[in-house]
Amino acid sequence: MKETKLTFITDTHHFSKTLSDGGRQYKLRSGSDQKCLMETGDIIDAAFRQIADSDADAVMIIGDVTNDGERVSHEEFREKLYALQKKKKVYVITATHDWCSDDNPRRYCGNATWHDVPVMASDELRDFYYDFGPNEAVSEFITHLGTSSYAVDIGENVRLLALNDDQSGLGGAGFSEEHFQWIEAQAAKAAADGKILIAMEHHPLIAHIHPMVFGGSCVKDREMVASRLADAGIRYMFVGHTHIQCIDTFTSKNGNTLKEVNVGSLVGYPAPIVNVTVCDAGLKIDVDHVKTFTYEGETVDALPYLQKHATDLFDRVMEGALISKAEFADRLSALGVKGKDFGNLVYIVKPLAKKYFHMKASGVVKLLRALGCGGCVDKQAAEKFKDKPLIDFVHETWLSMLDGHGRGAHDKDYYNLVMSVANALVHVRAVKLTLQIRQMLHGILTNDRFENAVL
Ligand SMILES: [Fe+2]
Ligand SMILES: [Fe+2]
Repeated sequence: MKETKLTFITDTHHFSKTLSDGGRQYKLRSGSDQKCLMETGDIIDAAFRQIADSDADAVMIIGDVTNDGERVSHEEFREKLYALQKKKKVYVITATHDWCSDDNPRRYCGNATWHDVPVMASDELRDFYYDFGPNEAVSEFITHLGTSSYAVDIGENVRLLALNDDQSGLGGAGFSEEHFQWIEAQAAKAAADGKILIAMEHHPLIAHIHPMVFGGSCVKDREMVASRLADAGIRYMFVGHTHIQCIDTFTSKNGNTLKEVNVGSLVGYPAPIVNVTVCDAGLKIDVDHVKTFTYEGETVDALPYLQKHATDLFDRVMEGALISKAEFADRLSALGVKGKDFGNLVYIVKPLAKKYFHMKASGVVKLLRALGCGGCVDKQAAEKFKDKPLIDFVHETWLSMLDGHGRGAHDKDYYNLVMSVANALVHVRAVKLTLQIRQMLHGILTNDRFENAVL
């Protein structure tokens, strides 16, 4: 068969620079997010240049194209799409951030956050992005929100099923019964037409890593939805939303499988550009990344910059506890935690923060021994990593989730050390929680399925 080359990106979350003066409220907001804000336009420009120069036949964008549905962000983003479209076919779906479903748009000015930002309504999005999918649709379904799902041919024998899953009408992300029936009809039609069907929707069907972390990010009734789609004959699903990189397989009770590729946010670490070759072997996956972008006149090396932005998310809260109670409360509030209610935690967090920034693995082991639970720790692994700072383990665990290169997948000692430290929790009698934390850590440390993946 003739190969088709596809590129998937998602969660571009474009934030117009006109919405901030870079003051204190902006800095608090920016410092509380894994993804960037002011840098988004520059990162997207760099990514689109890379993609325009690639051999991709078509580019798919899996929703949350703007920060929070701001009209100005949409207008700027669409200009970028039109420029990319001169070189590549571009197919877009929108998601809940594109119509500010939480009704909380924000702009930042000095010490103030304003909510008077004009936003796009959900039923305007289909027409606004009409030139990026719906205009070529072989079939289209308009949801009760006025958003669009569509099927479109993107290669000689490849059909894209672009699904808007913002709301099922039953209180969560997903599809109404009418929408399901349209999807099932499209899957049957693609099979009858001899097309390989590749689907995308914004919210995952599978709780990647662990349900405790990402169960709430999925469509509502995820197993029912996944079963229905798998049984309809959908084999490949590309999703976004969680901002992590992961691949997993779902099998329905009837034995039908659906492989789901969760693509991370383009504007946060690791700025993934997921290239897919549709060929006789199946779907070959190869992940590229934004290499450099220009921000405030400087050329920025994307991966280290975005990595630091992501890991600062933890460090800034800990650092806040070392500065003052008020700063700690402000930084918690920026994360969406009620700083006023939890600010008093500063007296507990402050001594922990000192250890967080300065302790090495050997210090953690010593502390666990003093608490009477050092027996769980893998001795060989502890010796190997004794001089490694605790903060590096925390950063690497977080990054393993985001980039899909689980740090424990290729280093047994690393895996054993982290897991054995987690076992120490058994000694504080939180057995059920320990089991869940162990499963979650196992999921993170072994999240390494992108390497040479063929679906
Ligand atoms: Fe997002
Ligand atoms: Fe999202």
